[in-house]
Amino acid sequence: MTAPLRLGIAGLGTVGAGVVKIVRRQAGMLQTRAGRPVAITAVTARSRDKDRGVPLGDYGWEDDPVALASRDDVDILVELMGGADGPAKAATEAALDLGKTVVTANKAMLALHGQALAERAEAQNATIRFEAAVAGGIPVMKSLTEGLAGNQITRVMGVMNGTCNYILTRMGDAGLPYDEVFAEANALGYLEADPTLDVGGIDAAHKLTLLASVAFGTTPDFTGIEIEGIERVSIDDIRHAADMGFAIKLLGVAQPTARGLEQRMSPCLVPLASPLGQLDGATNMVVLEGDAVGQIVLRGAGAGEGPTASAVMGDVMDLARGLTVPTFGQPVSSLTQPKPAQAAAPAPYYLRMTLSDKPGAMAKVATALGEAGVSIDRMRQYQHEAPEAPVLFVTHKTTRAALDDALAAFPATGVVTGDPVALRIES
Ligand SMILES: NC(=O)c1ccc[n+]([C@@H]2O[C@H](COP(=O)([O-])OP(=O)(O)OC[C@H]3O[C@@H](n4cnc5c(N)ncnc54)[C@H](OP(=O)(O)O)[C@@H]3O)[C@@H](O)[C@H]2O)c1
Repeated sequence: MTAPLRLGIAGLGTVGAGVVKIVRRQAGMLQTRAGRPVAITAVTARSRDKDRGVPLGDYGWEDDPVALASRDDVDILVELMGGADGPAKAATEAALDLGKTVVTANKAMLALHGQALAERAEAQNATIRFEAAVAGGIPVMKSLTEGLAGNQITRVMGVMNGTCNYILTRMGDAGLPYDEVFAEANALGYLEADPTLDVGGIDAAHKLTLLASVAFGTTPDFTGIEIEGIERVSIDDIRHAADMGFAIKLLGVAQPTARGLEQRMSPCLVPLASPLGQLDGATNMVVLEGDAVGQIVLRGAGAGEGPTASAVMGDVMDLARGLTVPTFGQPVSSLTQPKPAQAAAPAPYYLRMTLSDKPGAMAKVATALGEAGVSIDRMRQYQHEAPEAPVLFVTHKTTRAALDDALAAFPATGVVTGDPVALRIES
């Protein structure tokens, strides 16, 4: 019989325990499909005594993740501890230096250190697999590196943080304000220990970094992403957007343009009738566009024990079958350094503001917009109680720079009260 593929599992939390369960439950099926057994030889976590809901007695135990990565009876390190630095990075480096491939779900580590780790891997003829790091159970990396390998990818975009999508959907469905839904999501355990990673768009931007690197053959460039979170989206914005046929989503978009690589993660309006507009709750969606294939839409669970462990196992099974792909889909030396686009492509914008309810207020704002080169497509004024009037505009296609000029000119009009909200409308 062909030798088993021996896994060392570092981290036995949500994802790690899920992987152990699949390996145990599906041992026969995995062996048949891979032509060799897939076995766990050793594990590590912080606490040895915690009940993980799955028997661990057959496996070796290490207190130190680096010791786990270095064991002679571990062929593949499965890193499921998390954290951009610390034990996850130390164990990954130890495994790579020994020529062992690493399977991980750790988007933070790869978004920030992916290039250096990929170089380290290649120096030892190893690789890093990270299907689970981007959009959980959706096999987006495999789609890009295998099924779409013959395409020049022209754009990738998606809703890749289920918690933000849950918050925005729930605000709209239940008519609840952001703070209340945020507290609810927190109580349900949906938010990361540091919630700004979710609602600030950082977690989703980590995923977009990896997606863009593989899609466009560029070095992962987290710092090149324009990031805006969902904290300022109000229930009014969600209602007004729906009134005009749009939904608000935390949308990541990356595309090469003549101005450089555009990468942004921000709340956007998308048509309600589009697949992205229809995406409710904690589900993720990734849209891939290639020169030959056109558009592909992938939808599924972006997090949780089963879906994330499923993605980890996809990588493990490739390795068991002897299938290897370079970390970012091509040799690391061939990745190009992206030139970040100085500005996003022009788009229509949704603009909400509150005006003093005085004669001529609207004209002053329209003039400020016009002088900045922003033309108005539609305008709405909602019922209000004096002395302030909520007003919203939809602009024709404009650049963000022109819009920012208009926003900067608003205080001088003396009629705009509070901070206006500007959201891009994505076609
Ligand atoms: N949860 C998801 O749905 C999901 C989805 C996609 C990607 N991911 C990624 O998957 C990774 C794991 O996430 P998770 O949700 O499974 O996290 P988790 O539930 O918090 O589990 C983390 C595990 O790592 C162990 N650990 C932490 N520090 C350690 C150390 N110094 N030495 C040994 N073990 C250590 C913990 O041990 P103890 O249990 O003893 O504390 C725990 O078992 C992260 O990179 C995350 O971003 C998660």
